[in-house]
Amino acid sequence: MTRIAPSILSADFAALGEDITKVAGDADWLHVDVMDGHFVPNLTIGPPVVKAIRRHSDMYLDCHLMMTNPGQYLEAFRAAGADSCSVHVEIGHTSELIDQMRALGLGVGLAVNPETPIDDCLPWLERIDLLLVMTVHPGFGGQSFMSEVVPKIARARHAIDADGHSVVLEVDGGIDSATAAAVAGAGAEMFVAGSAIFGHDDPAAAVRELRAAGDAARQPA
Ligand code: DX5
Ligand code: ZN
Repeated sequence: MTRIAPSILSADFAALGEDITKVAGDADWLHVDVMDGHFVPNLTIGPPVVKAIRRHSDMYLDCHLMMTNPGQYLEAFRAAGADSCSVHVEIGHTSELIDQMRALGLGVGLAVNPETPIDDCLPWLERIDLLLVMTVHPGFGGQSFMSEVVPKIARARHAIDADGHSVVLEVDGGIDSATAAAVAGAGAEMFVAGSAIFGHDDPAAAVRELRAAGDAARQPA
């Protein structure tokens, strides 16, 4: 089954509560894109906004930390109400960061950029809950899906299933009703989407359309 995590990056930050309410009944998780202006060339939001969302909503908050030094902030994200955090494999210190997230009671996510080999993530599968495969270069919403990442998704799916790991395979970037089929076919189950949902006249309908597109691609021929 396809699950959907709307990215608030494409929501109206001046009406964030209202935008979250629009998707709350249909979406599975809420994806929170945290950018530090260093790991990626953009700045977004941090723990105070997570805290404000937590007061407003009981949705599962999936925080994607595009940061060079996430370890310094994990406790603050947890205290603010984050349910899971994903750190990037490219920054290193993966073992310590996994331990730190686990000790805080966070869902443990590992994110990987398009140009980074998926092999860098496979040794960690037994210690994580979530593998976030980027299908655009992180930093901005509204970019085009990179189809060259699809074989990495398939390889991750195979590794997760072959060893019986309970890891959610999440994809992020350029996901819409057209690209959903390729990622679902490769075995992704959690779809992050920003512009396809909050850029739609009816964000709840966009969530349902994305899920239907993913599920249709998953049907055996
Ligand atoms: C990109 C972010 C994504 C982004 C997705 O750096 O990690 O979560 O918001 O936005 P769309 O769906 O517009 O590509
Ligand atoms: Zn993201």
